[in-house]
Amino acid sequence: APHAHFAQTLISWYGRHKRSLPWRDTTNPYFIWLSEVILQQTRVAQGLPYYERFIATYPTVEDLAAAPQDEVLRLWQGLGYYSRARNMHHTAQLVVEKYGGRFPDKYEELIKLKGVGSYTAAAIAAFAFREQVAVLDGNVFRVLARVFGITDDIAAPSSRKVFQKLADELVPKGEPDTYNQAIMEFGAVQCTPLMPDCLFCPLQQSCFAFSHGMVQELPVKSKA
Ligand code: ADE
Repeated sequence: APHAHFAQTLISWYGRHKRSLPWRDTTNPYFIWLSEVILQQTRVAQGLPYYERFIATYPTVEDLAAAPQDEVLRLWQGLGYYSRARNMHHTAQLVVEKYGGRFPDKYEELIKLKGVGSYTAAAIAAFAFREQVAVLDGNVFRVLARVFGITDDIAAPSSRKVFQKLADELVPKGEPDTYNQAIMEFGAVQCTPLMPDCLFCPLQQSCFAFSHGMVQELPVKSKA
């Protein structure tokens, strides 16, 4: 495969650099869903204690579904965007009532859940069910734009198709979970927005932005 080098380099880098995070050591879709909802507008360091409290208080989706809403909102206190917590509670009840407490195992079904957008649906599908889908967040947009020299404006909705097509092609067969964690982690700690660590980057040799002196110019993002 033409892009096998890219995926394998990231997976190998991830093995050496990954942060140990509790939602990475599970394939439980309920835990993965909780972590992704909490992390949607929240940094890892801030979200971590909330994640721990939620799974300690509600070890299963049935426990969360049965909890009084005011108790759920109290546990959420400090994270903001309370609609996230209300959607989460609603979705827990739907998963129990409609799916017998088992999360759907396909991207196309997951995305129908309230509060589950394309990012979260792909994350659950890839991490819990090893579906061959690419997870696209800001980190992934940045890594792809730089390495492959994509100049489409990441703030333009029409660019999504361009990135999604390339991203899907890059997912290696059999390792969608590790690969997706790897590229997100790579964007978060190595290929960072402001001071990417290009000197010690394992993709330096094949990076379009590095070889064209465009690391500061990519990704292209118009101001909203
Ligand atoms: N932020 C959002 N999802 C994440 C994940 N799975 N790992 C680390 N940071 C994240």
